[in-house]
Amino acid sequence: KTPKPTEPKSFSRVEEGEAPEVEQRLKGPRPDQPRGKYEKRPENVRDDPEQQREQPKKALSRPRKTPNGEQTTHRSPYLIKKRDELLPKRKALPIWSQADAIRQRLRENNVLVLTGETGSGKSTQVPQFLQSEDWCTKTIAITQPRRVAAISLARRVAEEMGSLFGAQSPAAKVGYSVRFDNAAGPNTKIKFLTEGMLLQEMLRDPDMKQYSAVVVDEVHERSVNVDLILGFLRNLVSRIGRGKGVRKHPLKVVVMSATADVEGLVNFFAEGLDEDLKAPETSGGPTTVSQAARDRISTCFVEGRQFPVKTTYLPEPTLDWVESALKIIFQIHYKEPLPGDVLVFLTGQDKIEALEKLVNDYAAAMDKDMPKLLALPLFAALPQQAQQRIFQPTPYRTRKVILATNIAETSVTVPGVRFVVDCGKSKIKQYRSNLGLESLLAKPISKSAAIQRQGRAGREAPGQCYRLYTENDFKTLEERTMPEILRCDLSQSLLTMKARGVNDVLHFPFLDRPPRETLGKALMQLFHLGALNEDGTVNDLGIKMAKLPVTPTLARIIVEAAKPEHDCLHDVIDIISALSTEDSIFFNIATEEKRERAEEARRNLYRREGDHMTFLVTVQQYAEEQTDRKAWCERHFVSHRAMQSVMNIRKQLRQQCTQLKLLSSEAPTSSSSPNTDAILACILRGFVSNTARLCPDGSYKTFFHNQLVAVHPSSVMHGRKIKAEAIVFSEFLFTNKSYAKKVSAVQMNWVGDVMKEVVPM
Ligand code: CDP
Repeated sequence: KTPKPTEPKSFSRVEEGEAPEVEQRLKGPRPDQPRGKYEKRPENVRDDPEQQREQPKKALSRPRKTPNGEQTTHRSPYLIKKRDELLPKRKALPIWSQADAIRQRLRENNVLVLTGETGSGKSTQVPQFLQSEDWCTKTIAITQPRRVAAISLARRVAEEMGSLFGAQSPAAKVGYSVRFDNAAGPNTKIKFLTEGMLLQEMLRDPDMKQYSAVVVDEVHERSVNVDLILGFLRNLVSRIGRGKGVRKHPLKVVVMSATADVEGLVNFFAEGLDEDLKAPETSGGPTTVSQAARDRISTCFVEGRQFPVKTTYLPEPTLDWVESALKIIFQIHYKEPLPGDVLVFLTGQDKIEALEKLVNDYAAAMDKDMPKLLALPLFAALPQQAQQRIFQPTPYRTRKVILATNIAETSVTVPGVRFVVDCGKSKIKQYRSNLGLESLLAKPISKSAAIQRQGRAGREAPGQCYRLYTENDFKTLEERTMPEILRCDLSQSLLTMKARGVNDVLHFPFLDRPPRETLGKALMQLFHLGALNEDGTVNDLGIKMAKLPVTPTLARIIVEAAKPEHDCLHDVIDIISALSTEDSIFFNIATEEKRERAEEARRNLYRREGDHMTFLVTVQQYAEEQTDRKAWCERHFVSHRAMQSVMNIRKQLRQQCTQLKLLSSEAPTSSSSPNTDAILACILRGFVSNTARLCPDGSYKTFFHNQLVAVHPSSVMHGRKIKAEAIVFSEFLFTNKSYAKKVSAVQMNWVGDVMKEVVPM
């Protein structure tokens, strides 16, 4: 009898949700690797099986050819096997037949506008088509609106190329770069980045010399960052066209979209080239674009695969669409045969978690002989590993129910879906200029978004879409989603533009010009933060702020804290790291009894001064815990996952501040107790527009717009008998009323001092 193979020790930290080849290895030793090989581990080798195998073999590896003629330096039979398995799937994608056309168009012209339905293979295949071109001597950048998509695409493309990805190995050809997580190395040929990260890189390298091509994906989403990137790229392309700039090689630009207006994009780039053809005396910009310029922009259309989708509406409007969704999910499960997963579009994490719980509760009560239901949440703030579960094959006799935000509309393709349930709403960022604050509001989606959602049901076979609204409601929806640039706070965008030397923001090439009023407000905000000179040009402070990967407000706080009179940057970084994590540190607790225990346990972390100091104490106590941080979190009812992310952000912010010479060393040199007044003064300097004073009736009203705000129940300042005379808050939430979240108490005269600086009398 052969003994059961035991798991090699060094693999034990590999968690669920890792790349499939890693998981496969969890099952036991590979036949080609004798046990005992890893028993003595060389130093500096991570717990990553791939990397461990790479180390001793590196010297031996010789370039090999993939079926595509691409070169790889990896010999892993697992990676090669996976790559070969995926090849037929790639070949079946609608875009595959256009590979030569795409390559040819980009040889002829530098700009290509490529449209094709979601799932036609644009994001995964286009960079692979381009990487073997003669002009492609450097990296290909490909932007994504969300970090989930950037990471999961990098993983997928690495698998398809038979390569490692990200930080797994210095040899990895596919990498990604998202805020606070850069996993690209010297050999990265294809790099997926979030739009914000590309904008940051553009500040450091305006000519984008490290890239041969920039692929701007998901342009139809029209995030504010996409609009900025397109404006910058248009300027760069026309500058290169005029022989200005220091690039020796052309920069190829591919603009990809699932639905966009091709004409608009062609005209937009052609207009930039036309300016180049124009005689200088005809300034002011052309009104019609010349055919010659239009001919310099290539286009390509990829016909998608779309099976018919039967659409059903509710006969009557519903107020409780979580309950309506629940009913439909079970109706599908009882009536429809397998396979066929369900994709439910909801507004946000709260609704997703509520429905997830309901689905699980009802599923637990189903007959034993029914197929299982597996509820999987999908939203941007979900940790990476949980997100990866969406892409794994559905287990035997199980139906997946994916509960998603609009992230699954076009950005992330979920395989296996035959049924779509659409609540008809999504949370969008809205700048409320009367409050001077930005908030996320659940709003009806546009017709084009509803059609995108419906289309998700017909990717692989005929499908069904259930709209949780009436047919009449559908008819009243706006045709298109309003571009974000027309409805959000533009201070960060404006600072990026200014730092990149665009002073005349009114004449920046915007695909859609934001209202003057919004630009004016953003400009005011930057003046308040001290980032601009009187003539509106950016000053040194502003340049420093633009280089930090946080909002101008947080950047201002960081710069303030570095001043010798405050000297509290390490503490401030700890607080900002806690503010920047997407998971909640003090998570919600469902049951009353547990809530009481949690409050008791958390009490010694809570600080009288408010939430910011509470975060500081929490981060520092966690960081000091040397033995078992997980147990520390359990004892204090603090999310371990959130704290891990805080530590990662803290590390990166410390590095960046050291590079910008704001910090003299990455680790604090002394462990003196925090200077609360200095810290709160810095927070106040950044969040000066988020301040409110106590009124005689016990309510708070903002200093700037005299708006009522209530302290949110999640704050340690909520429900205090003795109220602070003034508060500063770092988050604003508008539901049925306006709430201040993450609140600290400040003194009235401090606010007065900052106001004098901000609005000189
Ligand atoms: O960009 P586009 O929406 O046109 O398609 P894509 O993202 O390149 O996806 C093409 C196909 O690759 C999808 O239909 C999925 O089958 C697969 N894919 C995947 O399995 N995992 C990912 N993370 C991304 C894509």
